[in-house]
Parts: sequence; C-alpha cells; structure tokens
Amino acid sequence: FMKRRKKWSRYPPGPVSLPFIGTMLSVDFHNPAHSFKQLQKKFGNIYNLQNCWTNVVVLNGYKAVKEALVHRSEDFADRPYLPIYEHLGYGKKSEGIVFARYGHSWKELRKFTLSTLRNFGMGKKSLEERVVEEAGFLCSAFKSKEGRSFDVHVPVNKAVCNMICTMVFGERFDYSDETFHKLLHFFENSLNEETGFFPQLLNVVPILVRIPGLAQKIFQSQKAFMDFIDVLIDKHMETWNPAYTRDLTDAFLKEMEKGKEAEENGFHYNNLRLVAADLFGAGSETTTTTLRWALLYMLLHPEIQSKVQAEIDKVIGRERPPTMKDQASMPYTNAVIHEVQRCGDIIPVGLPHMTYRDTELQGFFIPKGTTIITNLSSVLKDETVWEKPNEFYPEHFLDVNGQFVKPDAFLPFSAGRRVCLGEQLARMELFLFFTTLLQKFTFVLPEDQPRPREDGHFALTNSPHPYLLQAVPR
Ligand code: HEM
Repeated sequence: FMKRRKKWSRYPPGPVSLPFIGTMLSVDFHNPAHSFKQLQKKFGNIYNLQNCWTNVVVLNGYKAVKEALVHRSEDFADRPYLPIYEHLGYGKKSEGIVFARYGHSWKELRKFTLSTLRNFGMGKKSLEERVVEEAGFLCSAFKSKEGRSFDVHVPVNKAVCNMICTMVFGERFDYSDETFHKLLHFFENSLNEETGFFPQLLNVVPILVRIPGLAQKIFQSQKAFMDFIDVLIDKHMETWNPAYTRDLTDAFLKEMEKGKEAEENGFHYNNLRLVAADLFGAGSETTTTTLRWALLYMLLHPEIQSKVQAEIDKVIGRERPPTMKDQASMPYTNAVIHEVQRCGDIIPVGLPHMTYRDTELQGFFIPKGTTIITNLSSVLKDETVWEKPNEFYPEHFLDVNGQFVKPDAFLPFSAGRRVCLGEQLARMELFLFFTTLLQKFTFVLPEDQPRPREDGHFALTNSPHPYLLQAVPR
C-alpha cells in the first residue's frame, strides 16, 4: 500500500477536479488543442485531467510525445473502450482496427490490412496507377467549372473516397452517382455527431448510451453510413469468386474461409464491416482535409504556388502524369506538402491511447488503464523545434542547399505501434493529387471573395473554413 501511495505521489499535476464531472469544464471540447495549450502553460508538458471518473493524462511537446510513443511504445499502445460506437456493432469480439484494444486480434487485422495494401493490384493496376487515374478524373471535374468560382471540398472528397472504395470494394464511383453523394453526406455528418461535450460524456457514462433508442437518435448519420457499408459488402459478396482476389473484401472473405482459428484471430463478418468502416473513417476525411489546406495555402501564397509549378514544369513537364519516382527530384514541392501537413495540423489531439501497463514518463507515474491524449498539435507547432511554428514556411523542410529534410518532430501520422496504417497511401495521394492539380491549373482567389480565414474549424479533424477558388487552366 505504501509503495502504491508513493507511486501515486508522482502522478502528473492538473487542474482541480469537481465532484462527478471532474475537470471536464477545464476543456473546450470544440477546441481542445487551445485548452490543452493553456493548461500546458500552467502545469507543464505532462498533466492530468479527470473526465468524470476516467483518468486522463495529456502529453505535450515533441519530447514527451516521442518518449511515450516511440521509446515506450508498448506501454502506450492500448486504446480506451469507447461505448459511443457500440450501436454500430463495435464490442468485445468485434473491434475493427482503429478502436481495437492492443492485443492479438488488432495485431492480426493490422498485419492483414497492411500486407493487402502493399500487394494491392497483384498483376493488375497498382494502387499508384489508380491514384494517377483518379487524379485525372479530379482534373476533369475542376475543368468542368470553366473558370467559375467553386468549393473544392466535394470533388476532392469524391476522389479521395474513391481510393478507399477501390481498395476495399475494387471499384470507384462516378462523381455524379446519387448513391455516392448520399454516402459522403452521411459520412460528413457522422463526424459532427462525435464532436463536443455530449459525446465525451456518453463515453464516460456508458449507461446513457444504452438508453433504448438514444444512440440511434443522436448518431443517425453514423448509423446510416454503416447501413451503406453493409449494402456494399452484401452486394460484393454476391459476386465473390474465391478463385480471384479483387480487393481487400475478397482477401478478408478468403481469410474467413479458413475456419475457427481465423475467426479467433478476428476474421469474421462483423469485423469485415468494421475494418471497411475504419478505413473510410480514417482514410477519407484526413486526406481530403489535407488537400483542402494545400489548395488554400496556394491561394494565400501565390509566390509559393509559382515555385511549385516551376519545379513541376522542370521535372515532369506539362503533359506526362506525375509518378512517385518524381518525388525524389522535387524537394521544393515535397517540402510544401510536408509544411501543409504541419501547419494544417489536421488531427490536433491525435486519437486517444491508453496505457497497457503501469509506466513512467519523465519521472511521472502513469498507471495502467489511463487514457492518454497525445497532443500532436503541440509537437507540430513546438516552439523549441520549429523556426516559425505558426507560419506557413516550407523552408522548415529544406536545408541550406535547398535539399529536402524531415525534422523528427514531423509527426502528423503519429508514431510507434499505433502509427497511421495508411501513411504510405496518404503520402502517395497527397503527392500525386497535388502535383497533378498544380500541373494543370493555377488556383486564384475570385475577385469578389474576401481573403479566406487561416484558422481551422475543429470536428475531430481541424479543417479549413469553407472557401471558394477559381481553377485557371495552365
Ligand atoms: C491512425 C493520421 C490517412 C488509416 C491514424 C492516426 C493519425 C493518423 C494521427 C492515429 C495514430 C495513433 O493512434 O497514434 C492520418 C493522416 C492522414 C491519414 C494525417 C492523411 C493525410 C490515412 C489513410 C488510411 C488511414 C489514407 C487508410 C488507408 C488509419 C488507420 C489508423 C490510423 C487504420 C488506426 C491505426 C491503429 O490503431 O493501429 N492516422 N491518417 N489513415 N490511420 Fe491514418
């Protein structure tokens, strides 16, 4: 008992905790990164919060986040259980990947998904070729605006979602497809349903989620989105031929065929729908938002846009589609894309982790089962690392000779065992979509539009406020 008490005396400091709600009033759940910054000034890089009776520790700055995620990777690899997703089918034996507890099933599903992604195409079109093809469709959508002002959000989202559809279901949707519109609409609304104080409260007081009908009412769009995934999987299963592997769903069905052992490893029908939903959830909004930031920064910094275009013209020319091989010869464009990710700071507070065992961090004791917030924003804007943390400054990623360099504190995909599973695909999409668009168009601010806001809007991701642009063919 004395030993335990001694350990707890080294628990991180934090704001005063009130009965029942703990410290929940200390955080603005519509802008948590801002609240965390204020608390960091008061309590240092590692402090505790109390969401009702759940212990939470927030890690800030490159050093603390890296030590936890990289040097003590397994200690911090678990995820807290989030009851708000129960109504979608998440539960003890069906966890998908993103919200799965650290354990056997998560490892198997992650390994399977990574290797399926790596081997995608086998003999047919590679994932890279599919991205290049989709970039062509995106350019046609922009061209059809004939220089008029428009919001890039919808077409970019369609292009990005099509990559997930290709990977999971082996086919893409036409941009005018009604089903596709609905899918994207429900998905967009799903994110808003998860933001704010109330969903946080439901996660720590799960009994509320179990009030009959309540979750279905609050999370209507999430439910509708999941119903769509179910329809797509069912349709896909009707045409399944075990002799061919068209995509991730086929590969998953093949695993399921292997019987009891495979089922125990997590390969069962419910997990197939959850993995599909996870890939949509984790892979579409993130990449779309990053590309929206990229075009916004090009509007705000036309001189940077011109330099990127000059590099494209020199290395690729105006006609040949870009390939990933070009990246190595394009340090400036590469630096600009990295700076978009750093400055856009799209997942400012990361995804929640949980300690897998009792652990220590910079002299603090953190017990097993503590929810951990990795404040990625505090790393991407760490004043001790970046020369101009709050400015768009591609030189953060260039050395004195103009060569590309990547500082260790560049962690938009997080790090360690839970590092983003789609990082390779995301990088490919960002490079190929961005260079193809800038090869074909110059983006300008319409004359009747005010200068767009540079601050973001938080709903799980930090996205730009809506803005209009004109895509002038080059
Ligand atoms: C997890 C960032 C694109 C799939 C994550 C995490 C971050 C992240 C910060 C949380 C890691 C952690 O818990 O510490 C991003 C960014 C993207 C992007 C910035 C685009 C610019 C994608 C894409 C896919 C994807 C395209 C799918 C193909 C996943 C999955 C996880 C994840 C499955 C959960 C990993 C796990 O829990 O083991 N991502 N991501 N992401 N991401 Fe991404």
